[in-house]
Amino acid sequence: MYQRGDFLYEGKAKKLYKVQSFDDLIWVEFKDSLTAFNAEKKGQFSDKGLINSKISHYIFNYLTEQNIKTHLVELVEPQVWVTKKLDMIPLEVVVRNQVAGSLAKKFHLPKGKKLKKPLVEFYYKSDELQDPFVSAEQIECLDLYSNLEILSDLKSLGLKVNESLKSFFKKIDLDLIDFKLEFGCNDKGEIVLADEISPDSCRLWDSKSGDNLDKDRFRYDQGKVEESYKEVLNRIERVYA
Ligand SMILES: Nc1ncnc2c1ncn2[C@@H]1O[C@H](COP(=O)(O)OP(=O)(O)O)[C@@H](O)[C@H]1O
Ligand SMILES: [Mg+2]
Repeated sequence: MYQRGDFLYEGKAKKLYKVQSFDDLIWVEFKDSLTAFNAEKKGQFSDKGLINSKISHYIFNYLTEQNIKTHLVELVEPQVWVTKKLDMIPLEVVVRNQVAGSLAKKFHLPKGKKLKKPLVEFYYKSDELQDPFVSAEQIECLDLYSNLEILSDLKSLGLKVNESLKSFFKKIDLDLIDFKLEFGCNDKGEIVLADEISPDSCRLWDSKSGDNLDKDRFRYDQGKVEESYKEVLNRIERVYA
């Protein structure tokens, strides 16, 4: 049985601790807080951490079955994961199937417009800089991340995860509009999927009504935030539990 060790770091959605007697693992607690627009907007609801942990756990198990390497070791409590400790790559890998969010804003495109093919983008993970978009050339020339060979691997991993997630959500009548992934390297130098996949990090639209069941409800004060996260979990449990 794993035990929580010393406190390491508190992020916007999770708290990290050491795991006693296991230097290669970390203890991850999902928090009830919600943030948007680089933490300018803050909120929370009770059980949000629990719901995101459960949703993310179903998804990470599903991806493991699809031969995608993830950091998940064990769900030790409904709201707590033990994961592999990784050397995190400071990039957010965003994959888009349909136009929404910053892409709609940047190009004045209608929300929901289908892209010709899935688009992979990189954002530099920095709270101070508000996670700016970066091109592969910028990553290289500004020396933002030294191991450049991984960029093409990140792209193909992003696309592979996209195909798996699209079919995962299709079975529960949700369209996957876009999502964000984070990766890290393990001690063998392999790229491993980390962090979480939840309504915080995905845009999910009901296939029939088009209603969204994701963090945009909080971002844009659409109401029914808690109900929407619960609905996603309920649909997953009906099909995948
Ligand atoms: N397996 C892992 N090993 C080390 N760090 C991780 C791992 N998985 C996620 N992290 C990091 O944990 C931190 C806390 O998560 P979170 O609260 O979501 O942070 P943020 O405020 O950056 O969104 C993030 O910096 C994330 O990159
Ligand atoms: Mg986060």
